[in-house]
Amino acid sequence: MKATAKAHTNIALIKYWGKRDETLILPTNNSLSLTLDGFYTTTTVQFREELTEDVFFLNDERILDEPYRRVSAFLDLIRKMALREGSYAEIHSNNAVPTAAGFASSASGFAALAAAGSRAIGLKLSEEELSRLTRQGSGSACRSIYGGFAEWQMGNEIDGSDSYAVPIAPQEHWDVRVAAVVLSDVAKDVSSRAGMKRTVDTSVFFDSWVNSIPADLNEIKAGIMSRDFTKVGQTAEANCLKMHATTLGAAPPFTYWQDSTFTVMQTVRELRQQGIPAYFTIDAGPNVKVLYLPENEQQVQETLRQVPGVADVILSRAGQGISYLDEA
Ligand code: DP6
Repeated sequence: MKATAKAHTNIALIKYWGKRDETLILPTNNSLSLTLDGFYTTTTVQFREELTEDVFFLNDERILDEPYRRVSAFLDLIRKMALREGSYAEIHSNNAVPTAAGFASSASGFAALAAAGSRAIGLKLSEEELSRLTRQGSGSACRSIYGGFAEWQMGNEIDGSDSYAVPIAPQEHWDVRVAAVVLSDVAKDVSSRAGMKRTVDTSVFFDSWVNSIPADLNEIKAGIMSRDFTKVGQTAEANCLKMHATTLGAAPPFTYWQDSTFTVMQTVRELRQQGIPAYFTIDAGPNVKVLYLPENEQQVQETLRQVPGVADVILSRAGQGISYLDEA
């Protein structure tokens, strides 16, 4: 009754930004991401008869507050599926996702938990079933089941049965790289969950955002299939700017950007003016991720490191989907 799984985080090129059901975590639009090899979570779940509640360790530290409740509530879903209510587990999670890199560790965290937890309890889930389950821990995590490029299909059913991610192109399809630009002075005050909700509830730009998604998806999928970097980069950058525009139309308005966020965006534009194809994308925080091609790695990295306010630049390649490390 023990299993260990490893899951990588992902960066959305077409963003998930809005829920139509907050409990089941059902989105208002499809999204598309690239799984990254540099950032991952390894989780072991062991169901043990003598336990009367779940016990959760993150990076060897016992966790008792909100993250514990989220993990335990997620295991409730697995227990229900397996008809094993009343079975509790010891969970050990290790994050190789530098928190400062601004990647939500929740994506790799919930994907690894869903994979290890479902296997430890004896469920044999297909990738589609695993993605549907993972979605209920954190939306973006449902895309981390797959390596390379994956699309989360929002679905239409109210029970969420048709809302899960599907693979678009594997890790080997294309060597696109991502530089995570870590800013030195980062204050994140609105979580992605809270920011998303405020946007859905109040932003005057929200409907336009949702309506713009199908065209962006068509464009980026065509770009991925034909390995057209300009098309993929332009579409991802424009989609990110639209997502962030919705926050300015919310009440009260807010933005995730800081001064150095702008400086990095401008630096990426300057790289393009010098003939280096590079494009940015930004999630629910001030850090910037830059897409580039392998032949430009050195120049992109050196240029980004020199930007005032940049503390670190962490490079990553396309990553793999869920893997299982040991079982008993
Ligand atoms: C901006 O998946 O963290 O990174 O479903 O509430 O857990 P919950 O939200 P989460 O939101 C991610 C938002 C985003 C865009 C994306 O990854 O698609």
